Amino acid sequence: MTRIQTEPAAIVIFGASGDLTGRKLAPALHSLACEGVLPPATQIIGVARSPLTDTAFRERVYEGVEAYARLKPGICSLWSDMSDRYTYLSGGYDDPETYRRLAERLAQVDAAHGTGGNRLFYLAIPPLLYPEVAAQLGKAGLNHSSGWTRIIVEKPFGHDLPSAEALNAQVHRVFDESQVYRIDHYLGKETVQNILTLRFANAIFEPLWNRNYVDHVQITVSESVSVGRRAGYYDTSGVLRDMFQNHLLQLLTLTAMEPPPAFNARFLRDEKVKVLQAVRAIAPDDVVLGQYEGYLQEAGVARGSRTPTFAALRLYVDNWRWQGVPFYLRSGKSLPQKLSEITLQFKRVPHLLFRDNARLAPNRLSICLQPDESIHLHFETKTPGAGMRTSPVDMEFHYGEDFGEHALPEAYERLLLDALQGDASLFARADEIELSWGLIDPLTDSGVPAPYMPGSWGPEAAHALVEQQHCDWYLGRRHGD
Ligand code: BG6
Repeated sequence: MTRIQTEPAAIVIFGASGDLTGRKLAPALHSLACEGVLPPATQIIGVARSPLTDTAFRERVYEGVEAYARLKPGICSLWSDMSDRYTYLSGGYDDPETYRRLAERLAQVDAAHGTGGNRLFYLAIPPLLYPEVAAQLGKAGLNHSSGWTRIIVEKPFGHDLPSAEALNAQVHRVFDESQVYRIDHYLGKETVQNILTLRFANAIFEPLWNRNYVDHVQITVSESVSVGRRAGYYDTSGVLRDMFQNHLLQLLTLTAMEPPPAFNARFLRDEKVKVLQAVRAIAPDDVVLGQYEGYLQEAGVARGSRTPTFAALRLYVDNWRWQGVPFYLRSGKSLPQKLSEITLQFKRVPHLLFRDNARLAPNRLSICLQPDESIHLHFETKTPGAGMRTSPVDMEFHYGEDFGEHALPEAYERLLLDALQGDASLFARADEIELSWGLIDPLTDSGVPAPYMPGSWGPEAAHALVEQQHCDWYLGRRHGD
């Protein structure tokens, strides 16, 4: 992978003893260091409440790196050097003393390692603490420095539109929007970014990418896991807040947006915002909510909870390009498989020339984001033999085959790297967040979710939703369907 080395910086992780640090952040930083893009001067300061020594913190970090890094210490010999770059600072998030000590530590790091006042604060803490930590950073004067200062905020960014607006206002009291990097890890996925490459680095797709040729679009993000240990959080959130407001709407915007005049954070996000502005208010009849059977028995779920674990929507983007083209979005837990995929179904041929076929399958282009990162173009071909019968076949591209098994960086690697380089293209802007909450909020009150069997594709009504397209939801492999 060709990547440019970042400037040396101090990375401060709030919530350093938590799950995210061990599972995602430390493994991503390790792989970046192994690839030579994290300069040796970069230092990582973990902040959290638990009292931990530097050594104990490093051991925890090592466990995460060993278990989850794409490039593990066994593959890359950097760990002993990397380990020394981690230090720990324990303190309460609401205690000004924590920030005074942090400021002192940062000054020492600058002096000892030449990090030049560059600071990246990462909020890997429960969302309730975001305003407090942002305010305390401001009070301690840590919202600016002699270098650059940036802050990464994890999802969920708000719980609904009013809370997202309030949070934006609280953060903006301390940090300028240009310093704020709101994570949606789907944007860090290589295959998600490839939606833009496919569309705008090729001449052959874009002319078809509109209402004249596209019959409808399907976006599926399914998961086979149940809510498991996260039931307490999930029950207050549900699939609309947990997956649609962020990941699914991000996929929608990338699929539906106009080409930006240039590839930079401002232009890219301007175009995404325009898509969200054009989405028609979603009609109640265009929403199907489901809850898997057994959800109410999960530890942490409120009695009689109506939290949906599945949703399917039909929505319309009211603009010149997409007028009248339905977009179907669905996501849920306890479904048959983990799969993220976008399919454009094209319109049928206007006249059936080959009478040996009662009907021809329409062309489809599927972008499989995970787990089998690939692109499939589905078309009809002549079945060998007499007559003019046709069969559906696929033209396929698989990342693994062309670029190798370890070629795809983890989403957090890309996002951390971009934040260190000051590129906010793959982060959500304040207005984007607010517009997406504005679309999702009215749906969260759509009544009692219909039960569905774990391992099924959700309630029956979800299938009925796409029936008007004379097809069902498309899934994974295309051959023979
Ligand atoms: C998270 C959600 O944002 O995304 C989880 O909170 C979900 O509920 C996860 O499981 C899915 O991410 P991925 O990368 O595994 O598809």
